[in-house]
Amino acid sequence: MNILVTGAAGFIGSHTAERLRQLGHNVIGLDNFNNYYSIELKRLNAKSIEDAGVEIYEADLRDPDFGKNLTKDIDYIFHFAAQPGISSTSSFEDYFSNNFIATKNLIDFGLNCTDLKMFVNIGTSSIYGLEATSPENVAPKPASFYGVTKLAAEQLVLQKSREKQMKACSLRLYSVIGPRERPEKMYTKLIDLGLKGEPFPLFEGSDSHLRSFTYVGDIVDGVVSVIGKEDEIDGEIFNIGTEVEHTTQEGIEAVEQVLGKSIEIKVVPKRAGDQLRTKANIDKARKILNYNPQTSLIEAVEAQVEWFKTNFVD
Ligand SMILES: NC(=O)c1ccc[n+]([C@@H]2O[C@H](COP(=O)([O-])OP(=O)(O)OC[C@H]3O[C@@H](n4cnc5c(N)ncnc54)[C@H](O)[C@@H]3O)[C@@H](O)[C@H]2O)c1
Repeated sequence: MNILVTGAAGFIGSHTAERLRQLGHNVIGLDNFNNYYSIELKRLNAKSIEDAGVEIYEADLRDPDFGKNLTKDIDYIFHFAAQPGISSTSSFEDYFSNNFIATKNLIDFGLNCTDLKMFVNIGTSSIYGLEATSPENVAPKPASFYGVTKLAAEQLVLQKSREKQMKACSLRLYSVIGPRERPEKMYTKLIDLGLKGEPFPLFEGSDSHLRSFTYVGDIVDGVVSVIGKEDEIDGEIFNIGTEVEHTTQEGIEAVEQVLGKSIEIKVVPKRAGDQLRTKANIDKARKILNYNPQTSLIEAVEAQVEWFKTNFVD
């Protein structure tokens, strides 16, 4: 199949594009290489997936004409591109334009792809709000511009399914970790600072936050499992992540164990909108997608430390 993966130079999109190539598909990876974090890292990710046979198409989804040089012979769209995170450096406009407007433009493009079998939206546990432990049918209560705009984007995609204009589903991902994790996120930062012997800035009170830290390979398993189930899952939402919970403190200890050294902690003011607890309820994904994440926290951290050392340590 011909598959378009947006956000393909980013963390999870690059792993998904690579997996889809391994499964024998023709993959086009779209990205605008924005400067939310190191463009160098995005170029490194893009180089890896290009080497694996993915074609890179550089475009900004906020531009309604983004697809003018892109083939419409597309069977599947996996939409990862977004303004992620709850960083104080991202404005409401960043979230609104990259999450909502960009998704609207991509849907319009998808409606012109006559062979499109399914539009797979990538959602987030942040849609649920400060406690993300519910099944998919519980009313969302997002507590950040990120969560609100991702919910709006998800509904825009599912609206097209309800109108029978295209088949679509949405996958709500939980705290993804592993190689290529974004540099501003916890594990990459812990590994980087831990290796340099510099203090890790811990948001006040966050050491007791609970998270479904999920290995990126297990996330990709869930993402690609939708292929072939278009009729069954049209219009549906699935939580994708591990049911195993760990505190942030346990995450720090896992990195210390793998690095073989202790990491100094510096407490900094808490972030607005930071989730207190995420625990993926995956009953629906288990039943319909046969989803069964297996990787332990230590295995995920080991893979991420190895990736970091290979690419960023002389
Ligand atoms: N990382 C997580 O733990 C996590 C958890 C839940 C959901 N998600 C979702 O997964 C998706 C991918 O997240 P990630 O962590 O890989 O982020 P990422 O920032 O590494 O990847 C997103 C990519 O999209 C690109 N992009 C952003 N705006 C664009 C635009 N307007 N046009 C074209 N490209 C654009 C960026 O350059 C980036 O390479 C997002 O939709 C995010 O909401 C991530």
